Amino acid sequence: MDKKFYVTTPIYYINGSPHLGHAYTSIIADVMARAYQSLGSDVFFLTGTDEHGQKIAEAAADAHMDIQTFIDQRSGEFRKMNECLGISNLHFIRTSSATHEEVVTEIITTIYNKGDIYAGKYRGLYCVACEAYYTPDELLDGKHCKTHLTEVRELEEDTYFFKLSNFQQKLLEFYSANPDFILPKERASEILNRVKGGLDDLCITRTTFDWGIRFPFNEKHVLYVWVDALCNYISGLKESNTLHYNKYWPPNLHIVGKDISWFHTVIWPALLLSAGITPPHHILIHGWWTVEGEKMSKTRGNVIDPFEMSQKYGSDVFRFYLMYNAHISSDSNFSLLELKQQNNAILANNIGNLVSRVVTLLNQYCDGIIPIVGKLELEDERIIAIIKYTKKYTEALEEYNVRNALLDVIEKFSELNKYITREKPWDDFKNNNRESGEKTLALIAESIRFLSFCLDPFMPLKSQEMRSILGTKNLSFQFSFKNSEGSKVLTEKKILFVKLD
Ligand code: MSP
Repeated sequence: MDKKFYVTTPIYYINGSPHLGHAYTSIIADVMARAYQSLGSDVFFLTGTDEHGQKIAEAAADAHMDIQTFIDQRSGEFRKMNECLGISNLHFIRTSSATHEEVVTEIITTIYNKGDIYAGKYRGLYCVACEAYYTPDELLDGKHCKTHLTEVRELEEDTYFFKLSNFQQKLLEFYSANPDFILPKERASEILNRVKGGLDDLCITRTTFDWGIRFPFNEKHVLYVWVDALCNYISGLKESNTLHYNKYWPPNLHIVGKDISWFHTVIWPALLLSAGITPPHHILIHGWWTVEGEKMSKTRGNVIDPFEMSQKYGSDVFRFYLMYNAHISSDSNFSLLELKQQNNAILANNIGNLVSRVVTLLNQYCDGIIPIVGKLELEDERIIAIIKYTKKYTEALEEYNVRNALLDVIEKFSELNKYITREKPWDDFKNNNRESGEKTLALIAESIRFLSFCLDPFMPLKSQEMRSILGTKNLSFQFSFKNSEGSKVLTEKKILFVKLD
Protein backbone atom coordinates (compact mmCIF):
# COMPACT_ATOMS: atom_id res chain seq x y z
CA MET A 1 0.00 0.00 0.00
CA ASP A 2 1.40 3.42 -0.91
CA LYS A 3 2.35 5.56 2.10
CA LYS A 4 0.87 8.69 0.58
CA PHE A 5 -1.96 8.47 -1.86
CA TYR A 6 -2.96 11.42 -4.03
CA VAL A 7 -6.07 10.67 -6.08
CA THR A 8 -8.06 12.94 -8.41
CA THR A 9 -11.22 13.07 -10.50
CA PRO A 10 -11.29 15.09 -13.71
CA ILE A 11 -12.55 18.60 -13.10
CA TYR A 12 -16.05 18.83 -14.52
CA TYR A 13 -17.32 21.19 -17.17
CA ILE A 14 -20.07 23.30 -15.71
CA ASN A 15 -22.09 24.01 -18.83
CA GLY A 16 -24.47 21.24 -17.77
CA SER A 17 -25.68 19.74 -14.51
CA PRO A 18 -24.00 16.83 -12.72
CA HIS A 19 -25.02 13.47 -14.16
CA LEU A 20 -24.35 9.75 -13.85
CA GLY A 21 -20.97 10.01 -15.63
CA HIS A 22 -19.66 12.60 -13.17
CA ALA A 23 -21.07 10.66 -10.22
CA TYR A 24 -19.37 7.46 -11.42
CA THR A 25 -15.87 8.96 -11.68
CA SER A 26 -16.25 10.74 -8.35
CA ILE A 27 -17.51 7.63 -6.56
CA ILE A 28 -14.62 5.48 -7.84
CA ALA A 29 -12.21 8.17 -6.62
CA ASP A 30 -14.01 8.40 -3.30
CA VAL A 31 -13.91 4.63 -2.79
CA MET A 32 -10.18 4.63 -3.50
CA ALA A 33 -9.59 7.59 -1.17
CA ARG A 34 -11.57 6.08 1.70
CA ALA A 35 -10.07 2.61 1.21
CA TYR A 36 -6.48 3.84 1.13
CA GLN A 37 -7.15 5.99 4.18
CA SER A 38 -8.53 3.02 6.10
CA LEU A 39 -5.58 0.88 5.08
CA GLY A 40 -3.20 3.43 6.54
CA SER A 41 -2.14 5.74 3.66
CA ASP A 42 -1.94 9.50 4.00
CA VAL A 43 -4.59 10.46 1.44
CA PHE A 44 -5.21 13.62 -0.53
CA PHE A 45 -8.32 13.59 -2.69
CA LEU A 46 -8.97 16.41 -5.17
CA THR A 47 -11.93 17.21 -7.37
CA GLY A 48 -13.36 20.42 -8.80
CA THR A 49 -14.74 22.28 -11.80
CA ASP A 50 -13.38 23.28 -15.19
CA GLU A 51 -14.74 26.77 -15.71
CA HIS A 52 -12.95 28.36 -18.67
CA GLY A 53 -13.26 27.96 -22.42
CA GLN A 54 -15.62 28.66 -25.26
CA LYS A 55 -18.18 26.09 -24.19
CA ILE A 56 -18.71 27.70 -20.76
CA ALA A 57 -18.73 31.23 -22.21
CA GLU A 58 -21.40 30.19 -24.72
CA ALA A 59 -23.47 28.41 -22.06
CA ALA A 60 -23.46 31.53 -19.85
CA ALA A 61 -24.50 33.68 -22.82
CA ASP A 62 -27.29 31.22 -23.70
CA ALA A 63 -28.53 31.40 -20.10
CA HIS A 64 -28.43 35.25 -20.30
CA MET A 65 -26.31 35.35 -17.19
CA ASP A 66 -23.12 37.19 -16.39
CA ILE A 67 -20.33 34.72 -16.39
CA GLN A 68 -19.33 35.01 -12.73
CA THR A 69 -22.88 34.37 -11.50
CA PHE A 70 -23.20 31.50 -13.96
CA ILE A 71 -20.00 29.73 -12.93
CA ASP A 72 -20.61 30.24 -9.22
CA GLN A 73 -24.04 28.73 -9.52
CA ARG A 74 -23.00 25.81 -11.72
CA SER A 75 -19.89 25.00 -9.75
CA GLY A 76 -22.07 25.02 -6.64
CA GLU A 77 -24.16 22.22 -8.13
CA PHE A 78 -21.09 19.99 -8.32
CA ARG A 79 -20.27 20.73 -4.70
CA LYS A 80 -23.84 19.76 -3.86
CA MET A 81 -23.43 16.53 -5.79
CA ASN A 82 -20.38 15.74 -3.65
CA GLU A 83 -22.33 16.34 -0.46
CA CYS A 84 -25.23 14.32 -1.69
CA LEU A 85 -23.09 11.32 -2.68
CA GLY A 86 -20.81 11.41 0.35
CA ILE A 87 -17.72 12.34 -1.67
CA SER A 88 -14.88 12.95 0.80
CA ASN A 89 -12.62 15.24 -1.28
CA LEU A 90 -10.22 17.35 0.76
CA HIS A 91 -10.22 20.27 -1.63
CA PHE A 92 -12.40 21.55 -4.46
CA ILE A 93 -10.47 23.38 -7.15
CA ARG A 94 -12.11 25.89 -9.49
CA THR A 95 -10.09 26.95 -12.52
CA SER A 96 -11.44 30.49 -12.14
CA SER A 97 -9.53 30.88 -8.87
CA ALA A 98 -6.58 33.28 -8.53
CA THR A 99 -4.19 30.58 -7.31
CA HIS A 100 -5.01 28.42 -10.27
CA GLU A 101 -4.27 31.28 -12.65
CA GLU A 102 -0.92 31.94 -10.93
CA VAL A 103 0.08 28.29 -11.09
CA VAL A 104 -0.88 27.92 -14.75
CA THR A 105 1.01 31.09 -15.67
CA GLU A 106 4.07 29.81 -13.84
CA ILE A 107 3.99 26.41 -15.59
CA ILE A 108 3.46 27.93 -19.04
CA THR A 109 6.30 30.39 -18.44
CA THR A 110 8.64 27.51 -17.58
CA ILE A 111 7.64 25.62 -20.73
CA TYR A 112 8.05 28.77 -22.84
CA ASN A 113 11.47 29.46 -21.37
CA LYS A 114 12.47 25.89 -22.19
CA GLY A 115 11.84 26.76 -25.85
CA ASP A 116 8.92 24.33 -26.21
CA ILE A 117 6.40 26.95 -27.36
CA TYR A 118 6.41 28.83 -30.70
CA ALA A 119 4.03 31.16 -32.58
CA GLY A 120 2.19 30.01 -35.69
CA LYS A 121 -1.17 29.78 -37.44
CA TYR A 122 -3.71 27.03 -37.06
CA ARG A 123 -6.47 25.97 -39.38
CA GLY A 124 -8.59 23.06 -38.30
CA LEU A 125 -11.88 21.52 -37.29
CA TYR A 126 -12.96 22.27 -33.73
CA CYS A 127 -15.54 20.56 -31.53
CA VAL A 128 -16.65 23.06 -28.91
CA ALA A 129 -18.18 20.37 -26.69
CA CYS A 130 -14.82 18.53 -26.50
CA GLU A 131 -12.86 21.79 -26.70
CA ALA A 132 -10.57 19.95 -29.12
CA TYR A 133 -9.34 20.06 -32.70
CA TYR A 134 -9.79 17.02 -34.92
CA THR A 135 -8.53 15.84 -38.27
CA PRO A 136 -11.28 14.81 -40.76
CA ASP A 137 -10.46 11.12 -40.34
CA GLU A 138 -11.12 11.39 -36.59
CA LEU A 139 -14.69 12.53 -37.32
CA LEU A 140 -17.90 10.89 -38.49
CA ASP A 141 -18.25 11.63 -42.22
CA GLY A 142 -15.41 14.12 -41.77
CA LYS A 143 -17.74 16.64 -40.10
CA HIS A 144 -19.28 15.36 -36.87
CA CYS A 145 -17.69 14.74 -33.47
CA LYS A 146 -17.77 11.04 -32.58
CA THR A 147 -18.55 11.72 -28.92
CA HIS A 148 -21.10 14.51 -29.23
CA LEU A 149 -22.38 13.88 -32.78
CA THR A 150 -22.41 17.66 -33.29
CA GLU A 151 -20.97 19.38 -36.36
CA VAL A 152 -17.43 20.66 -35.86
CA ARG A 153 -16.45 24.27 -36.73
CA GLU A 154 -13.74 25.26 -39.12
CA LEU A 155 -11.38 27.65 -37.35
CA GLU A 156 -8.36 29.57 -38.48
CA GLU A 157 -6.37 31.40 -35.85
CA ASP A 158 -3.01 32.85 -34.94
CA THR A 159 -1.86 30.63 -32.19
CA TYR A 160 1.03 29.39 -30.13
CA PHE A 161 2.04 25.77 -30.40
CA PHE A 162 3.48 23.42 -27.82
CA LYS A 163 6.16 21.24 -29.44
CA LEU A 164 4.39 17.98 -28.64
CA SER A 165 6.13 16.35 -31.61
CA ASN A 166 9.44 16.72 -29.76
CA PHE A 167 8.15 14.55 -26.97
CA GLN A 168 7.39 11.42 -28.96
CA GLN A 169 10.60 9.66 -27.98
CA LYS A 170 10.56 10.92 -24.38
CA LEU A 171 6.99 9.72 -23.95
CA LEU A 172 7.75 6.30 -25.40
CA GLU A 173 10.70 6.00 -23.01
CA PHE A 174 8.49 7.14 -20.15
CA TYR A 175 5.80 4.52 -20.97
CA SER A 176 8.37 1.78 -21.21
CA ALA A 177 9.95 2.76 -17.87
CA ASN A 178 6.47 2.95 -16.31
CA PRO A 179 4.51 0.05 -17.76
CA ASP A 180 1.61 0.62 -15.32
CA PHE A 181 1.20 4.28 -16.20
CA ILE A 182 -1.85 3.57 -18.37
CA LEU A 183 -4.44 1.36 -16.67
CA PRO A 184 -6.19 -0.94 -17.38
CA LYS A 185 -3.34 -2.28 -19.50
CA GLU A 186 -5.69 -3.14 -22.40
CA ARG A 187 -6.04 0.61 -23.03
CA ALA A 188 -2.31 1.18 -23.38
CA SER A 189 -1.59 -0.35 -26.79
CA GLU A 190 -4.02 1.91 -28.66
CA ILE A 191 -2.43 5.01 -27.12
CA LEU A 192 1.13 3.77 -27.62
CA ASN A 193 0.43 2.98 -31.26
CA ARG A 194 -0.90 6.47 -31.81
CA VAL A 195 2.16 8.01 -30.18
CA LYS A 196 4.44 5.74 -32.25
CA GLY A 197 2.63 7.00 -35.36
CA GLY A 198 3.90 10.53 -34.64
CA LEU A 199 2.57 13.54 -32.73
CA ASP A 200 1.42 16.86 -34.12
CA ASP A 201 2.31 20.00 -32.22
CA LEU A 202 -0.52 21.19 -30.01
CA CYS A 203 -2.24 24.50 -30.48
CA ILE A 204 -2.31 25.96 -26.96
CA THR A 205 -3.78 29.43 -27.31
CA ARG A 206 -6.97 30.88 -28.76
CA THR A 207 -7.81 34.41 -29.91
CA THR A 208 -11.48 34.21 -30.90
CA PHE A 209 -12.78 34.50 -27.34
CA ASP A 210 -11.33 35.67 -24.07
CA TRP A 211 -12.86 33.55 -21.30
CA GLY A 212 -9.68 31.97 -20.05
CA ILE A 213 -6.23 32.59 -18.63
CA ARG A 214 -4.12 35.14 -20.54
CA PHE A 215 -1.13 33.73 -22.36
CA PRO A 216 1.70 35.52 -20.50
CA PHE A 217 3.71 36.26 -23.65
CA ASN A 218 0.94 37.76 -25.78
CA GLU A 219 -2.06 39.46 -24.17
CA LYS A 220 -4.27 38.90 -27.22
CA HIS A 221 -4.26 35.15 -26.56
CA VAL A 222 -5.94 33.06 -23.91
CA LEU A 223 -4.69 29.61 -23.04
CA TYR A 224 -6.34 26.59 -24.53
CA VAL A 225 -8.74 25.27 -21.91
CA TRP A 226 -7.19 21.80 -21.70
CA VAL A 227 -3.73 23.14 -20.82
CA ASP A 228 -5.40 25.35 -18.23
CA ALA A 229 -7.52 22.47 -16.88
CA LEU A 230 -4.79 19.84 -16.56
CA CYS A 231 -2.79 22.16 -14.32
CA ASN A 232 -5.59 21.91 -11.72
CA TYR A 233 -3.90 18.83 -10.34
CA ILE A 234 -1.01 21.06 -9.26
CA SER A 235 -2.91 24.23 -8.40
CA GLY A 236 -5.45 22.27 -6.33
CA LEU A 237 -2.69 20.97 -4.08
CA LYS A 238 -1.04 24.37 -3.79
CA GLU A 239 -4.31 26.15 -3.11
CA SER A 240 -5.37 23.73 -0.38
CA ASN A 241 -2.18 24.27 1.61
CA THR A 242 1.21 25.67 0.70
CA LEU A 243 2.90 22.50 1.99
CA HIS A 244 0.72 20.05 0.11
CA TYR A 245 2.53 20.18 -3.21
CA ASN A 246 5.80 18.96 -1.72
CA LYS A 247 3.98 16.44 0.39
CA TYR A 248 1.69 14.82 -2.19
CA TRP A 249 3.11 15.37 -5.67
CA PRO A 250 3.17 13.32 -7.95
CA PRO A 251 -0.38 11.99 -8.07
CA ASN A 252 -0.74 8.27 -7.51
CA LEU A 253 -3.92 8.09 -9.50
CA HIS A 254 -5.82 10.25 -11.97
CA ILE A 255 -9.21 8.67 -12.70
CA VAL A 256 -10.61 9.64 -16.12
CA GLY A 257 -13.17 8.52 -18.67
CA LYS A 258 -12.07 7.00 -21.98
CA ASP A 259 -12.95 10.18 -23.90
CA ILE A 260 -10.27 12.19 -22.11
CA SER A 261 -7.53 9.58 -21.92
CA TRP A 262 -5.37 11.20 -24.65
CA PHE A 263 -5.16 14.46 -22.73
CA HIS A 264 -4.08 12.64 -19.57
CA THR A 265 -1.76 9.99 -21.00
CA VAL A 266 -0.04 12.02 -23.72
CA ILE A 267 -0.48 15.78 -23.43
CA TRP A 268 -0.26 15.96 -19.63
CA PRO A 269 2.97 13.97 -19.20
CA ALA A 270 4.52 15.84 -22.16
CA LEU A 271 3.72 19.22 -20.56
CA LEU A 272 5.09 18.00 -17.25
CA LEU A 273 8.26 16.59 -18.78
CA SER A 274 8.81 19.91 -20.50
CA ALA A 275 8.28 21.80 -17.23
CA GLY A 276 10.62 19.44 -15.38
CA ILE A 277 7.84 18.09 -13.15
CA THR A 278 7.47 14.38 -12.35
CA PRO A 279 4.42 12.92 -14.12
CA PRO A 280 1.70 11.02 -12.22
CA HIS A 281 2.10 7.32 -11.41
CA HIS A 282 -1.13 5.98 -12.92
CA ILE A 283 -3.97 7.07 -15.17
CA LEU A 284 -7.00 4.84 -14.66
CA ILE A 285 -9.24 4.96 -17.72
CA HIS A 286 -12.83 3.86 -17.29
CA GLY A 287 -15.53 3.11 -19.83
CA TRP A 288 -18.78 4.99 -20.26
CA TRP A 289 -22.26 4.27 -19.00
CA THR A 290 -25.13 3.83 -21.38
CA VAL A 291 -28.67 4.09 -20.04
CA GLU A 292 -31.06 1.21 -20.70
CA GLY A 293 -28.84 0.32 -23.67
CA GLU A 294 -28.68 3.82 -25.20
CA LYS A 295 -26.15 6.63 -25.16
CA MET A 296 -27.06 9.03 -22.34
CA SER A 297 -27.97 12.45 -23.72
CA LYS A 298 -30.16 15.46 -23.07
CA THR A 299 -31.85 15.08 -26.44
CA ARG A 300 -32.82 11.49 -25.64
CA GLY A 301 -34.08 12.70 -22.26
CA ASN A 302 -32.44 9.75 -20.49
CA VAL A 303 -29.90 11.58 -18.37
CA ILE A 304 -29.53 9.97 -14.94
CA ASP A 305 -29.58 12.58 -12.20
CA PRO A 306 -27.47 11.67 -9.14
CA PHE A 307 -29.63 13.88 -6.89
CA GLU A 308 -32.78 12.06 -7.91
CA MET A 309 -31.13 8.64 -7.52
CA SER A 310 -29.91 9.46 -4.02
CA GLN A 311 -33.25 10.84 -2.99
CA LYS A 312 -35.19 7.86 -4.31
CA TYR A 313 -32.89 4.99 -3.37
CA GLY A 314 -30.34 6.48 -0.96
CA SER A 315 -26.83 7.56 -1.85
CA ASP A 316 -25.27 4.32 -0.59
CA VAL A 317 -27.52 2.16 -2.77
CA PHE A 318 -26.63 4.30 -5.79
CA ARG A 319 -22.93 4.10 -4.90
CA PHE A 320 -23.22 0.35 -4.44
CA TYR A 321 -24.96 -0.13 -7.79
CA LEU A 322 -22.34 1.87 -9.70
CA MET A 323 -19.40 0.13 -8.04
CA TYR A 324 -20.93 -3.35 -8.34
CA ASN A 325 -21.25 -2.74 -12.08
CA ALA A 326 -17.99 -0.86 -12.51
CA HIS A 327 -16.38 -2.89 -15.29
CA ILE A 328 -13.56 -0.37 -15.61
CA SER A 329 -12.17 -1.56 -18.92
CA SER A 330 -15.49 -1.74 -20.73
CA ASP A 331 -18.70 0.26 -20.86
CA SER A 332 -21.48 -0.42 -18.35
CA ASN A 333 -25.21 -0.17 -18.78
CA PHE A 334 -27.48 1.57 -16.29
CA SER A 335 -30.79 -0.19 -15.75
CA LEU A 336 -33.28 0.72 -13.05
CA LEU A 337 -34.61 -2.82 -13.02
CA GLU A 338 -31.11 -4.13 -12.35
CA LEU A 339 -30.52 -1.54 -9.64
CA LYS A 340 -33.66 -2.76 -7.88
CA GLN A 341 -32.86 -6.45 -8.41
CA GLN A 342 -29.32 -6.07 -7.11
CA ASN A 343 -30.53 -4.01 -4.17
CA ASN A 344 -33.03 -6.72 -3.28
CA ALA A 345 -30.82 -9.74 -3.85
CA ILE A 346 -27.51 -8.49 -2.49
CA LEU A 347 -28.19 -5.64 -0.11
CA ALA A 348 -31.58 -6.59 1.33
CA ASN A 349 -31.43 -10.41 1.17
CA ASN A 350 -27.76 -11.24 1.49
CA ILE A 351 -26.50 -8.49 3.79
CA GLY A 352 -29.51 -6.82 5.44
CA ASN A 353 -31.28 -10.07 6.23
CA LEU A 354 -28.26 -11.57 7.93
CA VAL A 355 -27.84 -8.50 10.15
CA SER A 356 -31.49 -8.53 11.05
CA ARG A 357 -31.56 -12.31 11.73
CA VAL A 358 -28.58 -12.16 14.06
CA VAL A 359 -29.86 -9.14 15.94
CA THR A 360 -33.31 -10.72 16.35
CA LEU A 361 -31.76 -13.95 17.69
CA LEU A 362 -29.45 -12.02 20.02
CA ASN A 363 -32.45 -10.15 21.39
CA GLN A 364 -34.49 -13.34 21.67
CA TYR A 365 -31.92 -15.58 23.33
CA CYS A 366 -29.09 -13.44 24.72
CA ASP A 367 -30.79 -10.32 26.17
CA GLY A 368 -29.42 -8.35 23.23
CA ILE A 369 -25.82 -8.74 24.40
CA ILE A 370 -23.16 -10.22 22.10
CA PRO A 371 -21.96 -13.24 24.12
CA ILE A 372 -18.45 -14.36 25.04
CA VAL A 373 -17.26 -17.17 22.78
CA GLY A 374 -16.35 -20.54 24.25
CA LYS A 375 -15.15 -23.52 22.30
CA LEU A 376 -14.66 -23.26 18.51
CA GLU A 377 -15.27 -26.18 16.15
CA LEU A 378 -13.38 -26.82 12.92
CA GLU A 379 -16.24 -25.36 10.91
CA ASP A 380 -16.02 -22.11 12.94
CA GLU A 381 -12.29 -21.86 12.39
CA ARG A 382 -12.88 -22.36 8.68
CA ILE A 383 -15.38 -19.53 8.40
CA ILE A 384 -13.23 -17.20 10.52
CA ALA A 385 -10.31 -17.87 8.17
CA ILE A 386 -12.50 -16.94 5.18
CA ILE A 387 -13.67 -13.70 6.78
CA LYS A 388 -10.18 -12.70 7.95
CA TYR A 389 -8.53 -13.34 4.61
CA THR A 390 -8.26 -9.82 3.18
CA LYS A 391 -5.54 -10.35 0.58
CA LYS A 392 -8.01 -10.55 -2.29
CA TYR A 393 -9.72 -7.36 -1.11
CA THR A 394 -6.52 -5.34 -0.65
CA GLU A 395 -5.01 -6.65 -3.86
CA ALA A 396 -8.12 -5.60 -5.77
CA LEU A 397 -7.84 -2.11 -4.26
CA GLU A 398 -4.16 -1.96 -5.10
CA GLU A 399 -5.09 -2.77 -8.67
CA TYR A 400 -7.78 -0.08 -8.47
CA ASN A 401 -10.41 -2.72 -9.16
CA VAL A 402 -13.29 -1.46 -7.05
CA ARG A 403 -15.72 -4.09 -8.31
CA ASN A 404 -13.53 -7.03 -7.30
CA ALA A 405 -12.96 -5.59 -3.84
CA LEU A 406 -16.70 -5.22 -3.40
CA LEU A 407 -17.38 -8.73 -4.74
CA ASP A 408 -14.98 -10.14 -2.17
CA VAL A 409 -17.00 -8.59 0.69
CA ILE A 410 -20.31 -9.75 -0.79
CA GLU A 411 -18.99 -13.31 -1.10
CA LYS A 412 -18.08 -13.27 2.56
CA PHE A 413 -21.62 -12.28 3.49
CA SER A 414 -22.86 -15.22 1.38
CA GLU A 415 -20.51 -17.52 3.32
CA LEU A 416 -21.92 -16.23 6.60
CA ASN A 417 -25.46 -16.87 5.37
CA LYS A 418 -24.54 -20.46 4.52
CA TYR A 419 -22.88 -20.82 7.90
CA ILE A 420 -25.93 -19.66 9.89
CA THR A 421 -28.19 -21.96 7.86
CA ARG A 422 -25.89 -24.91 8.57
CA GLU A 423 -25.33 -24.15 12.24
CA LYS A 424 -29.00 -23.37 13.05
CA PRO A 425 -28.24 -21.50 16.30
CA TRP A 426 -32.02 -21.28 17.04
CA ASP A 427 -32.06 -25.09 17.41
CA ASP A 428 -29.11 -24.92 19.80
CA PHE A 429 -31.01 -22.57 22.09
CA LYS A 430 -34.14 -24.73 21.94
CA ASN A 431 -32.11 -27.89 22.63
CA ASN A 432 -30.25 -26.49 25.60
CA ASN A 433 -27.02 -26.19 23.66
CA ARG A 434 -26.53 -22.54 24.65
CA GLU A 435 -22.78 -22.40 24.30
CA SER A 436 -22.89 -23.44 20.66
CA GLY A 437 -25.74 -21.06 19.80
CA GLU A 438 -23.98 -18.15 21.50
CA LYS A 439 -20.75 -18.90 19.70
CA THR A 440 -22.48 -18.92 16.28
CA LEU A 441 -24.18 -15.58 16.93
CA ALA A 442 -21.04 -13.97 18.34
CA LEU A 443 -19.00 -15.20 15.41
CA ILE A 444 -21.43 -13.73 12.92
CA ALA A 445 -21.75 -10.45 14.85
CA GLU A 446 -17.97 -9.96 14.92
CA SER A 447 -17.77 -10.92 11.25
CA ILE A 448 -20.37 -8.30 10.35
CA ARG A 449 -18.53 -5.70 12.43
CA PHE A 450 -15.32 -6.57 10.65
CA LEU A 451 -16.89 -6.66 7.17
CA SER A 452 -18.59 -3.31 7.78
CA PHE A 453 -15.12 -1.78 7.60
CA CYS A 454 -14.46 -3.41 4.25
CA LEU A 455 -17.78 -1.97 3.08
CA ASP A 456 -17.07 1.49 4.48
CA PRO A 457 -15.42 2.90 1.33
CA PHE A 458 -18.38 1.76 -0.76
CA MET A 459 -21.27 2.53 1.56
CA PRO A 460 -20.04 4.86 4.30
CA LEU A 461 -23.50 5.52 5.75
CA LYS A 462 -24.85 1.99 5.70
CA SER A 463 -21.71 0.43 7.13
CA GLN A 464 -21.83 2.91 10.01
CA GLU A 465 -25.51 2.02 10.47
CA MET A 466 -24.55 -1.66 10.60
CA ARG A 467 -22.18 -0.97 13.47
CA SER A 468 -24.75 1.06 15.31
CA ILE A 469 -27.31 -1.77 14.97
CA LEU A 470 -24.71 -4.12 16.46
CA GLY A 471 -24.08 -1.57 19.20
CA THR A 472 -20.36 -1.77 18.65
CA LYS A 473 -18.10 1.22 19.08
CA ASN A 474 -14.97 -0.74 18.31
CA LEU A 475 -13.20 0.57 15.24
CA SER A 476 -10.52 -2.09 14.92
CA PHE A 477 -9.83 -3.35 11.41
CA GLN A 478 -8.82 -6.74 12.88
CA PHE A 479 -11.07 -9.72 13.47
CA SER A 480 -11.22 -10.57 17.18
CA PHE A 481 -14.14 -11.67 19.39
CA LYS A 482 -12.95 -9.19 21.99
CA ASN A 483 -13.98 -6.35 19.65
CA SER A 484 -17.68 -7.08 19.90
CA GLU A 485 -18.36 -9.25 22.95
CA GLY A 486 -20.50 -7.47 25.51
CA SER A 487 -21.92 -4.99 22.98
CA LYS A 488 -25.63 -4.26 23.32
CA VAL A 489 -27.43 -4.62 20.00
CA LEU A 490 -30.37 -2.46 19.01
CA THR A 491 -33.61 -3.70 20.62
CA GLU A 492 -36.04 -2.21 18.11
CA LYS A 493 -36.13 -3.68 14.63
CA LYS A 494 -34.34 -1.54 12.07
CA ILE A 495 -34.36 -2.35 8.37
CA LEU A 496 -30.95 -1.71 6.87
CA PHE A 497 -31.91 -2.04 3.20
CA VAL A 498 -35.48 -1.56 2.03
CA LYS A 499 -36.62 -3.89 -0.75
CA LEU A 500 -37.52 -2.04 -3.94
CA ASP A 501 -40.47 -2.94 -6.17
N1 MSP B 1 -13.39 19.22 -18.11
C1 MSP B 1 -12.95 18.02 -18.71
C2 MSP B 1 -11.95 17.30 -17.83
C3 MSP B 1 -10.74 18.08 -17.49
S1 MSP B 1 -9.68 17.22 -16.40
C4 MSP B 1 -8.28 18.09 -16.39
C5 MSP B 1 -14.15 17.10 -18.98
N2 MSP B 1 -15.23 17.32 -18.24
S2 MSP B 1 -16.61 16.53 -18.39
O1 MSP B 1 -17.49 17.12 -17.42
O2 MSP B 1 -17.07 16.59 -19.74
O3 MSP B 1 -16.36 15.03 -18.11
C6 MSP B 1 -15.84 14.62 -16.91
C7 MSP B 1 -15.80 13.12 -16.78
O4 MSP B 1 -17.10 12.55 -16.86
C8 MSP B 1 -14.96 12.44 -17.84
O5 MSP B 1 -14.05 11.54 -17.22
C9 MSP B 1 -15.96 11.68 -18.67
O6 MSP B 1 -15.44 10.51 -19.19
C10 MSP B 1 -17.01 11.39 -17.63
N3 MSP B 1 -18.28 11.04 -18.26
C11 MSP B 1 -19.12 11.85 -18.95
N4 MSP B 1 -20.16 11.09 -19.41
C12 MSP B 1 -20.00 9.80 -19.03
C13 MSP B 1 -20.77 8.62 -19.11
N5 MSP B 1 -21.90 8.56 -19.76
N6 MSP B 1 -20.31 7.53 -18.45
C14 MSP B 1 -19.16 7.55 -17.70
N7 MSP B 1 -18.43 8.65 -17.60
C15 MSP B 1 -18.72 9.73 -18.39
O7 MSP B 1 -14.04 16.22 -19.80
